[in-house]
Amino acid sequence: MRRGPLQEGESVLLIDRRGRRYPAVLRRGALVDMRGGKIPHDDLIDHDEGGTVTSTRGERFLVVRPTLAEYVLEMPRGAQVIYPKDLALILLWADIYPGAVVLEAGTGSGALTMALLRAVGSTGRVISYEVRDDFARRATRNIEQDLGTPANLTMEMRDVYEGIPAQDLDRIVLDVPEPRRVVPHAAAALRPGGVILAYLPTVVQVQQMVEALRASGAFGLIETIEGLVRPWNVDGLSVRPEHRMVAHTGFLVTGRRVQGREAAMPPAAESDSEEEPR
Ligand SMILES: C[S@@+](CC[C@H](N)C(=O)[O-])C[C@H]1O[C@@H](n2cnc3c(N)ncnc32)[C@H](O)[C@@H]1O
Repeated sequence: MRRGPLQEGESVLLIDRRGRRYPAVLRRGALVDMRGGKIPHDDLIDHDEGGTVTSTRGERFLVVRPTLAEYVLEMPRGAQVIYPKDLALILLWADIYPGAVVLEAGTGSGALTMALLRAVGSTGRVISYEVRDDFARRATRNIEQDLGTPANLTMEMRDVYEGIPAQDLDRIVLDVPEPRRVVPHAAAALRPGGVILAYLPTVVQVQQMVEALRASGAFGLIETIEGLVRPWNVDGLSVRPEHRMVAHTGFLVTGRRVQGREAAMPPAAESDSEEEPR
């Protein structure tokens, strides 16, 4: 999968000349129906992606496999997914690496789970907690449609506020309403030097999370960032930012598991630092 001719069961995206996107899962004998024009899936199966196909109304469509960023925006949702711009940041800010053992909560629709699975690779492991059975089932379907059945994923129906039985974790990534309640469990479950990251939509949650990390004495290098991605229109002389963008989504709060209150000291205030901005 993911390269070579398109196979039955794979996800594809059909994109028209105006950039409208039509996702489909390929099934022999089925039809994609787009505003009255039809394309038999059999015209796509066993063909390479990157080509075009013509509907019964004479419209041409580009056919590609969706990237992960495209797939998470098109897949069915239970819970709100993390947007691709934030997924991209999370992977580097939480320093997710091949072979890492990562705990995630909650699974939601599985968007972050998929990004983590790809980043840890076959030598790593993602353990994902979720409290809602319907969301866990939706996430499983979404993940399996894109990645098959990943051997490096363990999904558990578990309330992360009540504890983290897993130990010696490399990374903890949280997308739950009250991550501050996870801080004591994270302090016990993360290995020294491990990274905790919380994805948070509001400043109130950020303030509470940072205070909880500081108060625990178990975390240092606490940082908060927000990522803004502004797409541009580049068309002849019309070179300018797009009129619309996805503006606020969430903040990322990160910290490192350190040993002893001394190590958890907050860094010097910005005005005391001589470091140049990067
Ligand atoms: C915003 S969604 C997560 C979306 C997910 N990151 C994605 O990209 O698809 C938050 C999820 O956390 C789950 N949740 C809330 N509290 C939880 C808890 N205490 N333990 C585990 N999961 C929890 C919710 O049921 C929901 O599915």
